[in-house]
This record gives sequence, structure tokens and C-alpha cells, in this order.
Amino acid sequence: MTIKDKNFVPYLSSEEIQLKVKALAAQLNKDYKGTQPLFIAILNGSFMFAADLFKEISLSCEISFMKLSSYQEMASTGNIKELIGLNENVFKRDVIIIEDIVDTGHTMKNVLDQFVDRGVNSVEVVSLLIKPEALQNKVDVKYIGFEIPNKFVVGYGLDYDGFGRNLNAIYQLKS
Ligand code: IMP
Repeated sequence: MTIKDKNFVPYLSSEEIQLKVKALAAQLNKDYKGTQPLFIAILNGSFMFAADLFKEISLSCEISFMKLSSYQEMASTGNIKELIGLNENVFKRDVIIIEDIVDTGHTMKNVLDQFVDRGVNSVEVVSLLIKPEALQNKVDVKYIGFEIPNKFVVGYGLDYDGFGRNLNAIYQLKS
């Protein structure tokens, strides 16, 4: 399939993704039993994953959103812009950050530091995808859907230069 000027091949099917989302939610429901966590979804990329995951959460919980941007076309710049910040008081809260993909880890490092500074009781990350070979920061991602190779992917919320987010499966750049 072609998105703008690049060709992509199927990588993770919608069924595989949905099974993984359910498994991650089941783990969170178990680990956070008896607590009232605050989920923070990182826009734009995680909107689809966050919606599907949140529907499977059976805890008494809240969700809010932050909008960050560090990517230009196909490269992480490391220069993170906060386009929508956090309004909630997170002091003593159990925070669960929902991310679509951890690549260099610059974004997650920045977000995690912010939450620690604000005195949360706990903060963990649930990321649908992680590219272990691309990691440049020491970030602890406790809940991981799929470890993937260091190749560009689109679909299920992830974009290539703004396009491809509406695909219900994940596609990898054809090499
Ligand atoms: P990091 O700061 O380098 O870890 O990048 C995190 C952000 O970059 C993610 O939230 C995505 O929005 C974007 N990103 C990283 N890798 C990809 C990819 O393969 N496809 C689409 N977006 C990506």
C-alpha cells in the first residue's frame, strides 16, 4: 500500500492488535485492582490504542490527554514540543501513560520526568509498540504490546507525515 510517496507492507493485523490490547488491559485491571488510576494518553498517535484499551479497563479510573510532538516526517527530533499540557492535579495519583510507540525514548523520558517532579504516587507506561534498537534513553516501559524492529510503521493511529492513522492494522515501510 502506498501512503504519500512511500510503500508499506502489512505487519500486524487488526486481530493481533485487538488480542494484545485485551491482554494489556487484563494485566492493568489485575495490577491496579483497588486503586483509582489516572490514564494519560499522549496525542496524536495513541488516540486509537487509548480508546480501545480504555474500553477494556474495568477499574474506577479517569483519563486525560497531553499533546506532544517530536517527529518530523520519519525522524524523531529529540526536541519535544508540548502542544497541550496537563491540567490535572497528579499529586499522589497512580498515573498510567498510554503511548503508541516508544522509539528513541526522548518523549517518554520527558513525560516521566514531569510526572515524577509533580509528586505522583506511581507512574508507569503502557506502549503498544517499542523499538528496542532505537532506544537512546533509559526509560522503563512496564507494559509493552509488541517489540518491533527499527523500521518505520504506520496505521492504528500512527502516521506518516499526517496520513495513515485511520488504518485498522499496522504496516511497515517496505525496504
Ligand atoms: P520518541 O520520542 O523517539 O520515542 O518518539 C515517540 C513518538 O514518535 C511516538 O509517539 C510517535 O508519535 C512517533 N514515532 C516513532 N516511531 C514511529 C513510527 O515508526 N511511525 C510513526 N510514528 C513514530
